[in-house]
Amino acid sequence: MDPVRTSDHSLPEHHLALDLVRSTEAAAIAAAHWAGRGDKHSADQAAVDAMRAKMSTLPFNGVVVIGEGEKDEAPMLYNGEAVGDGRGPAYDVAVDPIDGTTLTAKGMSNALSVLAASPRGSMFDPSALFYIDKLVTGPEAAALVDITAPVADNVRAVARGKGVDPGHVTVCMLDRPRHKDLADQVRAAGARVRFIPDGDVAGAVMAAREGTGIDMLLGIGGTPEGIIAACAVKCLGGVLQARWAPRDENERRGVLDAGHDPDRVFCTDDLVTGDGAIFVATGITDGDLMSGVRHGPDRATTESLVMSSRSRTVLLVRSEHRIDPAGHTAPTATSTTTKA
Ligand code: FBP
Repeated sequence: MDPVRTSDHSLPEHHLALDLVRSTEAAAIAAAHWAGRGDKHSADQAAVDAMRAKMSTLPFNGVVVIGEGEKDEAPMLYNGEAVGDGRGPAYDVAVDPIDGTTLTAKGMSNALSVLAASPRGSMFDPSALFYIDKLVTGPEAAALVDITAPVADNVRAVARGKGVDPGHVTVCMLDRPRHKDLADQVRAAGARVRFIPDGDVAGAVMAAREGTGIDMLLGIGGTPEGIIAACAVKCLGGVLQARWAPRDENERRGVLDAGHDPDRVFCTDDLVTGDGAIFVATGITDGDLMSGVRHGPDRATTESLVMSSRSRTVLLVRSEHRIDPAGHTAPTATSTTTKA
């Protein structure tokens, strides 16, 4: 983190972030009920229902701009849906009730429930194309990297920024056949690869945070996840650079038809403008960033990251919850630790 900026817990964004985390906690608890049961769809539906129900009780005026899809195909948390109780300043909201549905269904680590918010009109519309190519790194090398440069140059830039040898740089990427060449280039530059099976929002947060063992995230993943990760990077410091990743000429034309330059390079500020970003995430399964949900018959405990860019807060929030017979959750105790 930039040592000059200190956190300010009196700002409204800080309080809104602590309210919004209630919705990722509720979604994570609902999703965790399905962890390891091999049923992605039920896990996702449970998380969406729980997140939506909790959000309707929270004091803010949100519109989902990155949700589960259009209204017809997504009965809840669809793009354009109003969320919150309608009070207070207007926010764009990006939801990912489960980042890592397969991880959840298989009971594997690093599944998160995620929500990002920023002042109305400040989030980029990701609908032109599902995939973008991403580069994320923390503050030390933020000004030195360039997604259009060769991979070896970026490995060296990160090494220089962190004052280490390229051999001590670890690059995280989704484990996909499309990344074989990328992984080869990272290794040829002397760095290590850490493949993740899914969940590149968590990968981006790890790349931007100090002390996670991940120095940079590279590779192609979901565009919605890219916008959500940009909110996290705004809070943590560092940079997210991106460019469209069409798989064929048709997709490239789709980007053009949507009014975009297919060769444009985006930086964090292009994806989320201004300084009002909020990012909250709760662990569903155990992960590198936080523990997953611990379930008892009528209780659960959760761990969450709560971040706000203007108030410069990065908190680890541990909560205990009571679960009523209908499955509704209510927090009974919360403790916070400053992570910045
Ligand atoms: P879901 O949880 O929605 O399935 O997304 C998981 C994820 O790994 C994202 O984190 C990532 O951006 C995207 O899928 C990558 O897509 P693909 O699996 O098609 O490579």
